[in-house]
Amino acid sequence: MTEQDTKRTAERTVPKRYLITSALPYANGQKHIGHLAGAYIPADVYVRYLRAQKRDVVFVCGSDEHGTAIPIQAMKEGTTPQAIIDKYHVIMKENFEDLSISFDIYDRTSNPIHHETAQEFFTDLNNKGDLEIIESEQYYDEAAQTFLADRYIKGTCPNCGFNGAYGDQCEKCGTSLSPDELINPVSTLSGGAPVKKATKHWYLPLNKHEDWLRSWILGTHGHDWKANVLGQCKSWIDAGLQPRAVTRDLDWGVKVPLADAAGKVLYVWFDAPIGYVSATKQWALNEGKDWKPYWLDKETKLVHFIGKDNIVFHCIIFPLMLRLHGYIVPENVPANEFMNLEGDKMSTSRAWKLDMQDYIDDFIKKENGGPQLADCLRYYLISILPETKDSEFTWKGFQDAVNSELVSIFANFVNRTFVLMHKLTGGKVPKYHNDKAEPKDNNLIADIKTAKARIETLLEEYKFRDALFLVIDIARTGNRYMQEKEPWIKARTVDAHGAVTAEAQAEIDNCLHLCLQLCANLAVFINPFLPNTARKMCHLMKVVDKMLDWENAGSMKLLSVGYSLRAPELLFRKIDDSEVSYQVEKLKAGLEKSKMEQEKNNPQPAQQAEAPAPTSSIDTTKAIAEIQYDDFAKLDLRIGTITAAEKVEKADKLLKLSVDLGAGQRTIVSGIAQHFSAESLVGKQVIVVANLAPRKMRGIESQGMILTAEQPDGKLILVNPDSLTINGSNVR
Ligand code: MF3
Ligand code: ZN
Repeated sequence: MTEQDTKRTAERTVPKRYLITSALPYANGQKHIGHLAGAYIPADVYVRYLRAQKRDVVFVCGSDEHGTAIPIQAMKEGTTPQAIIDKYHVIMKENFEDLSISFDIYDRTSNPIHHETAQEFFTDLNNKGDLEIIESEQYYDEAAQTFLADRYIKGTCPNCGFNGAYGDQCEKCGTSLSPDELINPVSTLSGGAPVKKATKHWYLPLNKHEDWLRSWILGTHGHDWKANVLGQCKSWIDAGLQPRAVTRDLDWGVKVPLADAAGKVLYVWFDAPIGYVSATKQWALNEGKDWKPYWLDKETKLVHFIGKDNIVFHCIIFPLMLRLHGYIVPENVPANEFMNLEGDKMSTSRAWKLDMQDYIDDFIKKENGGPQLADCLRYYLISILPETKDSEFTWKGFQDAVNSELVSIFANFVNRTFVLMHKLTGGKVPKYHNDKAEPKDNNLIADIKTAKARIETLLEEYKFRDALFLVIDIARTGNRYMQEKEPWIKARTVDAHGAVTAEAQAEIDNCLHLCLQLCANLAVFINPFLPNTARKMCHLMKVVDKMLDWENAGSMKLLSVGYSLRAPELLFRKIDDSEVSYQVEKLKAGLEKSKMEQEKNNPQPAQQAEAPAPTSSIDTTKAIAEIQYDDFAKLDLRIGTITAAEKVEKADKLLKLSVDLGAGQRTIVSGIAQHFSAESLVGKQVIVVANLAPRKMRGIESQGMILTAEQPDGKLILVNPDSLTINGSNVR
């Protein structure tokens, strides 16, 4: 254990109780492994670890059954919203069970307890004067006599010309839109053109709470929250907080509990997180417990596990709601980035994804499957968790992780230990001869003890990947130890009668004794990550699951001397090449099929072909590999104005620029000092790559890049808009 580890361990205080939540998935369709890796697996690992520590912990989740996503899916499937939530709620609940996600309760927001709870919450905030009523003009469908949620309005995308864009987003080019931006809007309910009509809604005035939000997030948690989470919160707050509507004109959802709010429901992002509270209540009811301390007592540690698209709701809006209502606020929100699949973004509309259901059908529910195959997926997903940046699932990667880590390192160690024990020590745990202990043995014991503390520190800090790597590492250490001790060679040291000498037997005993204790430790260590594997190991060792209590980690007395153990069984099977190629083909076929379906449903005029014809004047010898539209759409290009420029000291190529991007100022360090004088740039408009990861240059953090074009003589010129335009404008 390093000095730092010791310090970190000492600083940790144990909370009285834990309330752990995973984002409530929308019950509008199958969920894929990107969702699984984002909010469910990490939470499950954490919770299993806390349970093994015998902490008081409740793990809640459930289906998010409101919002326009549900009735829209119902229209697509030609059925009712109720039928949709009933179908997907069951599928998701079972999927999570098959993947060993151990919620204490998997509830649903159609539960009456939830409707009551969400209404109480709203009423309380409204009575305290924490909400504001604002009137605005919104699209209304006269034929259907209803206001139209953004998703119910379709039209032509102002950005790419796609004629099936929704009022909130164009699914073709990914731009987020507001209904006002659509060209020729039509209502998807009646097919007619909607009209504007005044309507009033209740708003949560985030702007009034900026000071608290800033000091709570950036002050209190500025040091312990993840950088990706803090970054998003900061840019949200910096961009200026606005009142957010918490009601909608819609007939699917939790009714607004006021007489003058007929036809209005709570906005799904208001009600859904309250689902964590309702689920806790339902759990308490089921278990005969009291839910109140979990939400009211400051000694509860509340942690929300989510994907990065949910950050503002869980770090800004919901905490504010909780605070106004007098509840505790989260201690941490360890949000994950996204997981890509085989080189591309996972997407349900393009069928580029691996659904939990598909994995379960193709692996777990197959004849050579079972819970071990759930652990295989868990293993690979944990090993590639997008904890700090987007990560990538590949089928080859999955195969390698299972075959060369789980099978070749972990399972192999356990298997060899058991085989040798049956061969060399009569199938029983041999004695440990203290007087024969060697430095190698003592080192192994020390390594196991150190591993415990290090794994704890990593888990407490939500570093699940690294924690898992440490477990594999300790199995690797076991293999090396056995390789060095070579008990099978020692067994050839025989006396005149052909019996192994006492001296040699003592060495064999010591080696296998330690290897067996290590196996038991590995079961304890692996349990939060791969619970099915841990249980199977307990079965092989003929010990009860109680042995998996975390306090047992590091002990060299988990298996008693003379105890006879079962015959070895393989913990995992290998993944075949044919399985990998089948999955890759299946993925491609799914993409083709969804492309064909989309073209059938939304035929595009010929002149809007996706890729522009190449212009012959481009020097194709320098052309970079072709990309898809989605790749381009990842760029956030914006118009900005250079408001200040200065040379960077002792760097003859660098200029430090301040650029106004509308929503804020950026510092950009650019290697253009030999082409422009600092003064000549001030006041110029430029195109900025606004979502480039920040980079330190000469100690200055550069937060973007400006576009220039190279002239035939090698000189650079600025690329800028052909007439003055608003800073922050999107460039496409
Ligand atoms: N249903 C949302 C999604 O899938 C998540 C809701 S999380 C909750 O993105 F906190 F609102 F429950
Ligand atoms: Zn578009």
